[in-house]
Amino acid sequence: MTETKKQEWNSNLAFMMAMIGSAVGLGNIWRFPNVLYSNGGGSFMIPYIVSLFLLGISFVLVEYAVGFRFKKSLARILFSVSKKLEPIAWFILLVVFLITTYYVCVVGWDLIYIFLSFTKAWGSNPDLYFTNSVLHSTDSISGIFTIVPTVLASVFAIWFLAWLILKRDLNEGIGKVSKILLPLLCIIVVVIVAFSLTLPGASVGYTQIFTPDWSALTNLDVWLAAFGQIVFSLSLGMAIAMTYASYLPEGSKLVDNAVLVAFSNSGFEVFNSIGIFSILGFMTLTSGIPFNELVTSGTGLAFVVFPQVFNIMGPAAYIIGPLFFLCILFAGITSVIALLEGVCYSISEKFLIDRKKTATVVCIIGFLISTLFATGIGSTILGIFDGFLNNFALLLAVLIECIIFGWIYKFDNLIETLNNNSTIKVGKTWKIVIKYILPICIGGLWIQGIYSTLTTADSLSTTIMIILTIVLIVVPIIFTKLPAINKDYYNV
Ligand code: ALA
Repeated sequence: MTETKKQEWNSNLAFMMAMIGSAVGLGNIWRFPNVLYSNGGGSFMIPYIVSLFLLGISFVLVEYAVGFRFKKSLARILFSVSKKLEPIAWFILLVVFLITTYYVCVVGWDLIYIFLSFTKAWGSNPDLYFTNSVLHSTDSISGIFTIVPTVLASVFAIWFLAWLILKRDLNEGIGKVSKILLPLLCIIVVVIVAFSLTLPGASVGYTQIFTPDWSALTNLDVWLAAFGQIVFSLSLGMAIAMTYASYLPEGSKLVDNAVLVAFSNSGFEVFNSIGIFSILGFMTLTSGIPFNELVTSGTGLAFVVFPQVFNIMGPAAYIIGPLFFLCILFAGITSVIALLEGVCYSISEKFLIDRKKTATVVCIIGFLISTLFATGIGSTILGIFDGFLNNFALLLAVLIECIIFGWIYKFDNLIETLNNNSTIKVGKTWKIVIKYILPICIGGLWIQGIYSTLTTADSLSTTIMIILTIVLIVVPIIFTKLPAINKDYYNV
């Protein structure tokens, strides 16, 4: 059997909205404020902007050029570059898929909090409420046999939503949903930031963003943190930009689009941080809790600190609270569908399975894996998955992509593809960045990631990491060995 007609975005707007929606996610809302604060506040902006230009935009351009030039899925692109590279594509896709399985769970927790926020159901101790009443968290390994029904139901709801969007035609599903959710998300964030600036103590918070600690600039860890933030936030190495760019019609201005997407994503996270820091400033002033104790990372910020803030905010919290959690939901959903689209595309192209069936199978398997995180020990396993997949596997994926397209593939082809229609042109500097600077920076980050993951590993995380490593080796080999149903797949 041979392949059917290719999918294409019906407008540049749909592509841009989907791209920005894919980038703006949990990483922008709860990861960035903590990374920014713990790495020198205002002075972090310098490494951050340098990373954005030098590394973030440069790598997004590689993904755009490759996707647009080949107009194929990642698995088929790497097969076309060299037959031996196909397992690497399935490795990257598996990493992305596994990241999605726990990313969905966090979005699921957020869904629960949308409902809780209408009545501030978390009570006077949000920390205890989150751990005991929402997650039913336990440290004991036997917790793996206890399913937490509410978490399972919300995880199911997110997978179901993702399936509803993915199974539809590209423009009717991802395109339309992104065009609706992204503007809504921006409106909500503007409302939250505007409100937060009126709170007493707001300036205690937002001045932190603009007060530099210059000594941080000489700290290598700060530069690595900036780069790590750009990797996660711009979804580098996740095959998203490559997949979305492969659906672009001829004549698209690739470089201009990439720059706009990167600026919008960073603009969003910096703007959103002004709101978050102002709200935390208000909390410091009102409760006396030191600012540095409030800027926690991830779940702590969204599900513990913010509910604490809403407790002392008065009646406005009944509006701002639901809006805040709705904002995370919208940002999360557009990222989830983007993460899954590349996975579905490769499977569908190799095995010639239609969009709806592929989405169904991928979402069912994804949901089954996500049930692991809906158990009593789910949040602990989630933390281990997150550390291993982000610090180790994803960075490896970015590094491999740099090497393949910088060194193995004829790089000048990519320059030609990018410059064809774009107003902004790229040249030799970009080539040097991709071939040398980017691999060195990612290599540094990767070594640092392995070191911190291994030095903090206990027996449970070591076991899980070993299982994940085996899965990440075996499954890609199986997918490579399975013969393609699509006979065009092997036409390079
Ligand atoms: N870029 C997405 C995020 O920031 C994955 O959450």
